[in-house]
Amino acid sequence: MPPDPLSLFAQWLKSAREHPEIKEPTAMALATCSAAGQPSVRMVLLKESSAAGFVFYTNLGSRKARELAENPRAGLCFFWQPLGRQVRVDGFVQPVSAQEADRYFASRDRLARLGAWASRQSQEEKHPFALERRVARYALKFGGGEVERPPFWSGYRLVPESIEFWQAGSFRLHERLLYISQDGVWQEPRRLYP
Ligand SMILES: Cc1cc2nc3c(=O)[nH]c(=O)nc-3n(C[C@H](O)[C@H](O)[C@H](O)COP(=O)(O)O)c2cc1C
Repeated sequence: MPPDPLSLFAQWLKSAREHPEIKEPTAMALATCSAAGQPSVRMVLLKESSAAGFVFYTNLGSRKARELAENPRAGLCFFWQPLGRQVRVDGFVQPVSAQEADRYFASRDRLARLGAWASRQSQEEKHPFALERRVARYALKFGGGEVERPPFWSGYRLVPESIEFWQAGSFRLHERLLYISQDGVWQEPRRLYP
């Protein structure tokens, strides 16, 4: 049992990346919860993981961003089916810095950058092809120039307070390992009944 869950996570993510049947190894379910207590969950892509936390990017007008503004507590869940592995992470989010978001945005391909400008994520798309028209409009606006990061698009870092690893076993004798952080220090992990 490694004392640090982030190094175990890095090993599991590496195995998932190397597995030929896993097409989206960084896909994770992100659970948020409104101030009124209504949970909501959707898939996002993990863009960075380190001792500091788990980073994803999104539109700041989206439902998830609204809920995170009301309530910064959130959860993540990875499932790598061919490996029989699940990882759950609970904690709270912090916005990434503008410089970090700019750096990541600049690494995306041009169409994805134009798409970020064009999408009014989570709002009603009232007309067919409205998104395509907006992409074309921003393509014209930026021409051959640099497509900078929209002010309404950025990232969050989920700072983990607990991380649970689940490994499928034979005859449903699955293994679960729960790490809890206290005052920023990871405690000795506990085994849980499956
Ligand atoms: C595999 C997968 C990866 C996705 N990655 C992202 C992502 O990184 N960021 C994002 O904003 N939406 C991503 N989406 C779309 C979200 O699931 C969701 O539809 C969108 O963010 C709006 O969610 P919201 O209305 O709850 O805010 C992804 C969807 C799938 C299926």
